[in-house]
Amino acid sequence: MAAGKRLLLGDDQPSIGEALIKAMDMSPADVVFEVRESDIRGRGGAGFPTGIKWNLAGAASGDHKMVICNADEGEPGTFKDRVLIEKMAWKLLEGMTIAGYAIGSSHGIIYLRAEYPYLVPILEKARQDLISQGLLGDDIQGRGFSFNIEIRSGAGAYVCGEETSLIESLEGKRGEPRNKPPFPVNSGYLARPTVVNNVETFAAVPHILLGGAEWYQGLGRDDCSGTKLFSISGDVENPGVYELPMGAALRELLELSGAKDIAAVQVGGASGSTVTPDELDKPMSFSALPPGGSVVVFNSSRDMLDVLENFMEFFVHESCGQCTPCREGNRRLLDIIRSIRAGEIASRDDLKPFFLLADVMKAGSKCGLGQTSPNCFVDIITKFIAFPGDKEGA
Ligand SMILES: Cc1cc2nc3c(=O)[nH]c(=O)nc-3n(C[C@H](O)[C@H](O)[C@H](O)COP(=O)(O)O)c2cc1C
Ligand code: SF4
Repeated sequence: MAAGKRLLLGDDQPSIGEALIKAMDMSPADVVFEVRESDIRGRGGAGFPTGIKWNLAGAASGDHKMVICNADEGEPGTFKDRVLIEKMAWKLLEGMTIAGYAIGSSHGIIYLRAEYPYLVPILEKARQDLISQGLLGDDIQGRGFSFNIEIRSGAGAYVCGEETSLIESLEGKRGEPRNKPPFPVNSGYLARPTVVNNVETFAAVPHILLGGAEWYQGLGRDDCSGTKLFSISGDVENPGVYELPMGAALRELLELSGAKDIAAVQVGGASGSTVTPDELDKPMSFSALPPGGSVVVFNSSRDMLDVLENFMEFFVHESCGQCTPCREGNRRLLDIIRSIRAGEIASRDDLKPFFLLADVMKAGSKCGLGQTSPNCFVDIITKFIAFPGDKEGA
């Protein structure tokens, strides 16, 4: 496992509590400023600037602010958060505690993927260890700051990873996305100002505090800052979790993992981008090729229509059904994929209405699921599927 600059998963780790103690020597506003200056963007997929999120939650009016860790990790092909919790649970808890100090919250919740029950004892042990060292709980290090963390099991649906569905689920309701605004930073869990961040985002925070914003920024490439964990699987010799500079070229990751005979690569999960061998030098950055947490490699033996059908079945199954573009759109895309498979589509021109439908879904769906689920349809049909009516060389 792993290669490149190993900040999050490397052997050279700061001592437990060092970053929290440093943070508590600073004012909460200075902690938020440091995170903001580091330019870290959320590692859960959407890439929202973490410092801005914390700033908004800190400034929001309302008591009992909340810090929630999104450990739902439901994106197909993603398993980096699982590894991070297995190996460095304390760092996630410390990052959450620093967030609590920064925004003025005394309560955190970890929303853990339902399929990860074996991580509960690991998190629980890390929690107890921190409490016994005076780094979590009441009156941390005698500084008058208290922060407690609860561990809650997820509800098993992909859409519960979307932050407002996650909050609904935590409140004991059906996990469906909320209308936004209001955003969670103003009205989240139980209508309290709430920060929701990914496991990896919280785990990066102690490093930012200890190394400084400028140092952290310098670790990234392209227009990115910091390092990034990538879960890579599929047709590679060495699947696993690798840590590289955020913004590193996709090719670098593929070489490290021993990918050969590459026909297609799915970057950023089922809702991400499907790239051809000509695109491997693209940087895995938010502006060029947003990586999320997952990279899946397909070699030339794979039928990309099969891959597409599989992704679309997933979205049909996981759509919560609240809004029409997503509920009906994904079904229509799956139907047409099956018609292509049955040889009923002679020309790519016949698919024009479905590309239009994909645009409507992206623009009209309520949450990120329906807004991104057509990506694989557009990419795979455009780049990988040939039709009898295609002109030679087209
Ligand atoms: C359908 C869907 C599923 C999502 N699943 C996850 C997930 O499993 N883990 C995660 O951190 N973010 C997930 N997100 C993104 C969250 O809504 C949110 O942006 C993220 O937790 C914010 O944390 P970050 O800023 O640290 O990335 C998902 C979004 C959508 C639309
Ligand atoms: S886009 Fe899909 S998952 Fe999201 S609210 Fe609409 S129906 Fe539900």
